[in-house]
Amino acid sequence: MTDPNPLASLKTLEEEALGAISGATDAGEVEAIRIRFLGRKDGRISALLKGLGGLSAEERPVIGQEANRVKGVVQAALDAKEGELAGPAASQEYDLTLPARGVWRGAAHPISQAMDEIWGIFRDLGFTRARGPEADTEWYNFVALNTPLDHPAADEQDTLYLQDSVLLRSHTSPVQVRTMQTHEPPIRIIAPGWVYRRDTYDATHTPAFMQIEGLVVDEGISFVDFKATLAEFARRYWGPGTQVRFRPSFFPFTEPSAEVDVKRVVTRADGTREETDWLEIMGAGMVDPAVLENAGYDSERYTGFAFGMGPARIAMLKYGVRDLRTFFENDIRFLSQFAR
Ligand code: PHE
Repeated sequence: MTDPNPLASLKTLEEEALGAISGATDAGEVEAIRIRFLGRKDGRISALLKGLGGLSAEERPVIGQEANRVKGVVQAALDAKEGELAGPAASQEYDLTLPARGVWRGAAHPISQAMDEIWGIFRDLGFTRARGPEADTEWYNFVALNTPLDHPAADEQDTLYLQDSVLLRSHTSPVQVRTMQTHEPPIRIIAPGWVYRRDTYDATHTPAFMQIEGLVVDEGISFVDFKATLAEFARRYWGPGTQVRFRPSFFPFTEPSAEVDVKRVVTRADGTREETDWLEIMGAGMVDPAVLENAGYDSERYTGFAFGMGPARIAMLKYGVRDLRTFFENDIRFLSQFAR
């Protein structure tokens, strides 16, 4: 049966739909209303239009236009309701087209980076790693290293004692003795770790700092091996143009002893190349025979060399940092410059 008044029926449908939409309380309900009224096949509006038999040529466009208007109004009301139910978060606060924000994952501390690079070079040269305790005895820290207890370094002014003869190690050299006591030659080790001294915290001192110790002992190790190994290290770390100098020095546990200096070629911001002053990077020397004997080695048969350096000092020289304290203040504006 043909609808006698399709315009009135459309109006009724529109009101029904809007009433249902305003009463909807969740997205599922909105979707059901959408299908019920606007569904292409069985929706109420489609059904109404299909039910109209032979419309006259005048009626056809009028009804068609009104049907489209009602569809538009219902569609808009459905969309508005959907947005309202999804809440302000989804509709306004998130712009899903924005590029993702970068995530700061952090980076290794510049001193850790220096340690890693230094260790990496010695690893490539065939060294392995060793370690010892931070709380050690006077014997390992001084006596075994040929340093008498009346030496100024052993004084309470300079060293942090825990008990009578137990102290916080003032250098990583005791690891030399501990390694030789527990291992047969050949020895080729790097021993990184914390050391402690009774120093005032200032631009060039901290009471706790990192050191990296090195020790090589075998039959026939000579001064040539010593110089060549450390010069090779310096060139790998500071660059192939680096000059290396061994300056006579004194340590109770090495004989002869040397301070190793480097002179670098640096490229300034304007592109000009310039040589730096000589920069001291480590203490070193041939292991004193008394130390080999104290550790239980036959000093007639074995010789060796040892060295010790501070990665913080090396990082300061490498990056032109003037105040050691900046490494420990954890100002992210300073530290993030070293991130990679
Ligand atoms: N232990 C010395 C220091 O702390 C460095 C060093 C190590 C010197 C090994 C010679 C050989 O200053």
